[in-house]
Amino acid sequence: MQTERGQWSSKIGFIFAAAGSAIGLGNIWRFPYVVGENGGAAFVLLYIFFVIVIGLPYMFAELALGRSSQRNPVGAIDAIKPGSTWKWAGYLGVLTGVGILSFYGVIAGWTVGYIYKMAVGNPGGFNEYISDPWLIILLFAFFIALTALIVHGGVEGGIERWSKILMPVLLILLISLIIYSNTLEGSGKGLAFYLKPDFSKITGKTILAALGQAFFSMSLGMGLMITYGSYLSKKENIISGAIYIGMFDTLIAIMAGLIIFPALFAMGESPEAGPKLVFVIFPKLFAQMPGGLIVGAFFFILLSVAALTSTISLLEVPVAFMVDEKKANRKRIVWIVAALTFIIGIPSALSQGASDFFTNFGLIPARLTSPDFLSQMSFVFGDFSLAFGAFILSIFIGWVWGANKASDEIQTGAPGFSKIRPLWIFMIRFFIPAVVFIILLNLFGVFD
Ligand code: PHE
Repeated sequence: MQTERGQWSSKIGFIFAAAGSAIGLGNIWRFPYVVGENGGAAFVLLYIFFVIVIGLPYMFAELALGRSSQRNPVGAIDAIKPGSTWKWAGYLGVLTGVGILSFYGVIAGWTVGYIYKMAVGNPGGFNEYISDPWLIILLFAFFIALTALIVHGGVEGGIERWSKILMPVLLILLISLIIYSNTLEGSGKGLAFYLKPDFSKITGKTILAALGQAFFSMSLGMGLMITYGSYLSKKENIISGAIYIGMFDTLIAIMAGLIIFPALFAMGESPEAGPKLVFVIFPKLFAQMPGGLIVGAFFFILLSVAALTSTISLLEVPVAFMVDEKKANRKRIVWIVAALTFIIGIPSALSQGASDFFTNFGLIPARLTSPDFLSQMSFVFGDFSLAFGAFILSIFIGWVWGANKASDEIQTGAPGFSKIRPLWIFMIRFFIPAVVFIILLNLFGVFD
């Protein structure tokens, strides 16, 4: 990513940045708890299905729109259909970036706090920890400021180099933890919960949760891939890039589950703990391991880095929009958006016990999500808004820009695309918008 509009220095630079955006708390924190809340293996299968038939083809479309227009989501739409209301899909994306960052930064703050907790040998007491208002707000502010600092200063030098080293390390650590967790007594039941599907557990809510999680985890539906695609050169292969990103992203999420569920059942905990799930299970796991607290501190460092490459991308969307469209000064606008996001995030920070009001907020009905403000934000911006955004954008790309023009763009640099071109056109024009639409209607109880 660059401080000015330019191009990725290399294909690998793009893959790392986009994979860095995709891989984050969504894989290691959010995926396991939504799997837990939605009944396990059947949800996992549904999730993988959505990644392949909706996430990937839709990702081609966002990348193509970005590369072709060389603009942020609002500017990209405006370049194709100047002055039209379609632009609102772009605004929605910008808003969604801020909305997601506002609660995501809170969890990222928890992660940083756990580096310290593990290092000083105090892995327990999670509930007291997250209900301490000042501590949690401070950690949240720290993480948002760190994100702003990096987006402010440009990313190539520091974060990209570090994430190239640290992400493979994360992979190795996850593999070791899978092995350890599955040797615990009683872990087999967890593995069964995670891998043996019980399809009676699939409901309307589960289906949207799986679709939402696929969009969330792959950073789709809010124009992030439009923005990152806008820095991509015509020589690059959109198809193979997207497939790499989708594969890595899914792999890391699946691995996180392979650690969490066996450990969870071995420890006799409930899979339905919600957002706190991994923060309870991982520390317990480390506490039992010989030398585990050091490993634990190290694990939370890696998780913080993974979160940081995602928060950077979340901040980049509104910033790119303000710089391109409103001619804002990049260095200044970074801090303004960050400060705004911080303020919006305070209720989420207080919603895990610190404030009764935000803990039992419950504006969105309980059949859809938990009452705490953070879960409600996660539902509105992390599930609904991404799915809705993807619905509008797929129609825009398939019909307004035109599936043929979009296909030509994808095919530039990816000659092999010609084989699946008709199939892709069908997907972007009919299949994706129809499936997403039905799932959204279902959410509003239309089929009840
Ligand atoms: N994909 C990121 C994660 O899984 C979150 C994210 C969503 C980032 C949308 C950018 C855009 O952690």
